Amino acid sequence: HPKNLLRAIQEDGDHLGKITNRHIYSADQFDQESLLQLFRLAAKYEANPDRFSTSLQGQILISAFYEPSTRTRLSFESAWHRLGGDIMSITDRSTTGLAKGESLADVGEMFNNYGDCVVLRDTNAGSVRDMMNALRIPIINAGNGTDEHPTQALADLYTILKWRPALIEGDEKANLCIIGLPSKMRTVRSLLKLIALFPECFSQVTIVNDKSREEMFDPGQLEQLLEAGVNIHTSGNLNEVLPDADVVYINAIAWEGNSFSQYGNQYHIDSTSPLKEDAIILHPLARGAELCCSLDNTPHNWYFAQARGAVFLRQALLTCLVRRVERVLDIV
Ligand code: CP
Repeated sequence: HPKNLLRAIQEDGDHLGKITNRHIYSADQFDQESLLQLFRLAAKYEANPDRFSTSLQGQILISAFYEPSTRTRLSFESAWHRLGGDIMSITDRSTTGLAKGESLADVGEMFNNYGDCVVLRDTNAGSVRDMMNALRIPIINAGNGTDEHPTQALADLYTILKWRPALIEGDEKANLCIIGLPSKMRTVRSLLKLIALFPECFSQVTIVNDKSREEMFDPGQLEQLLEAGVNIHTSGNLNEVLPDADVVYINAIAWEGNSFSQYGNQYHIDSTSPLKEDAIILHPLARGAELCCSLDNTPHNWYFAQARGAVFLRQALLTCLVRRVERVLDIV
């Protein structure tokens, strides 16, 4: 329950101030203390899910999704609605000036006139920075190609810490298995950046895929994780790793041609997989063949809770970005 997380984290508004009025483009931008305070605020919202506020009344979100999305767009929009704001949503670039060759920088310059915050998803890695340079209102990266998906990683870590608040207090450590390719998958790349901020929470982090270490990581990424104190391993054999894993994070390669189903078939989990009895499974979704529906009605299924919690996490982030921090603490 989110209240357990509230008990594990002491309130400290000074750290929330670091998240106010800025662009969010990478998981690199956070530190441990500001994240804990963000998670605390998210847990407050989640503990009162029916309480809608008017704190963003009169504020307009520009929700620009130039690539398909179910969860990210709708959870951001749900979060903004819960805070009392209004939304302008773009879901098809062919209806905008981009289809006529207009630059994202010019579109960003216009967004300054129309709204108070932008959430952008685009297939190109450089899109967020192109638009950011023209913006005087905050922008949030909601997935830029294969590069990063920082708010997904925030939702992932929030879920893990809600599952076991004792990880924060240092009383327990989790063995984490990540099935995916950090150098190619935006969710995994962003999640590893956050894990590097919480090395003491994890007894071991094992990355499972069939690539060599050179292909698996961006240059310098493995060294950074080791320097941060993450006990990181790699393996190509999922069934050897699963029996020891407390948290299994599985992902789909969604944007690499037809490798989605090939990879999904090679690394696949279902209700017969050798999981620890109390292991939880996370998946940012949408899923492919890698995550069988036979797990949906088992206690291993934390992926639906992960998607639900993302609404409250995004509520917390939006509140911080658009409101001054002293007002944030007044309203929850
Ligand atoms: N997790 C996630 O990014 O899902 P969507 O592609 O549906 O937004």
